[in-house]
Amino acid sequence: MKLYKSIAIDGPAGAGKSTIAKKIANKLNYTYIDTGAMYRAMGLEFCRLKIDLNDENTIYNTCSNIDIKIQYINGEQQVILNGENVNSLIRTSEAGQMASVISIYKPVRLKLVELQRKLSEEGNVIMDGRDIGTYVLPNADLKIYLTASIFERAKRRWTELLEKGEDIDLKRVESEIEARDNKDMNREIAPLRKAEDAVVVDTSDLTIDEVVEKIISIYTKRIELD
Ligand code: DC
Repeated sequence: MKLYKSIAIDGPAGAGKSTIAKKIANKLNYTYIDTGAMYRAMGLEFCRLKIDLNDENTIYNTCSNIDIKIQYINGEQQVILNGENVNSLIRTSEAGQMASVISIYKPVRLKLVELQRKLSEEGNVIMDGRDIGTYVLPNADLKIYLTASIFERAKRRWTELLEKGEDIDLKRVESEIEARDNKDMNREIAPLRKAEDAVVVDTSDLTIDEVVEKIISIYTKRIELD
C-alpha cells in the first residue's frame, strides 16, 4: 500500500536539479532528498581509504562497513558519514567526479538505493539524482527529466564554483561536465536516462522560479487527475 507521494527529478549535471527540487520541497512542504550528496560522501570515503577500484572484494567490504545517514538541520539535508557530517566537504568538482567514478559499482548503488527507498517511505518526498524515475522510485507520482544546453549548464556550474572560491576555467568546467554525463549515461547499472513516463523540462531559457512554477503546475494537474 502506498502511503506517501513522491516526485522524481533526474537529469544531467548542472541542470539545476537541486536548486529547483529544494524550492519545490519548500512550497509543497515535502522532504527534499539529494541522492548525489550520498554518492559524493561515498566517493569521499573511497578516496580517504585509497580503495583499489580494481578489487571487487575490497569495494564490497568497504560498502558493507560504511555507515551513511541523512539528517536535516534547519531543513537542509546533511550527510553523516561514519558519524561525521561531511556536507561541507562534498560540494567540490573533484567530489562530483569521484562520485561519478564510484557510482558504477553495484555494492555502492545497492547500499544507497536501499537508503533512498527507506527515506521515501517516511513521508512525501522530492528526490533528485540520475536513476530516481527509472530505478529508485519507478512508481513516483511525477517524474521530471530536467535538462539544459551544455553551455548553459557549464556556465551555471562555473559561476557556482567561482562564488565558492574555486578559480577554474569555463572550458574546463564544460569538458568535465560532458565527461561526467558520458560516464553517468553509459554505465551498466541504472544509467542516467529519461524514464519513459517522465516529462522533459528544458531549463536553458527559464528562470529558476519559472521552472519551479511549471513543475508545480504539472504536478498539481497530475494529482487532481488521480
Ligand atoms: O547530482 P550530483 O552532481 O551531486 O551527483 C554526483 C554524481 O553521483 C553523479 O555524477 C553520478 C552519481 N549519482 C548517481 O549515480 N545516481 C544518483 N541518483 C545521483 C548521483
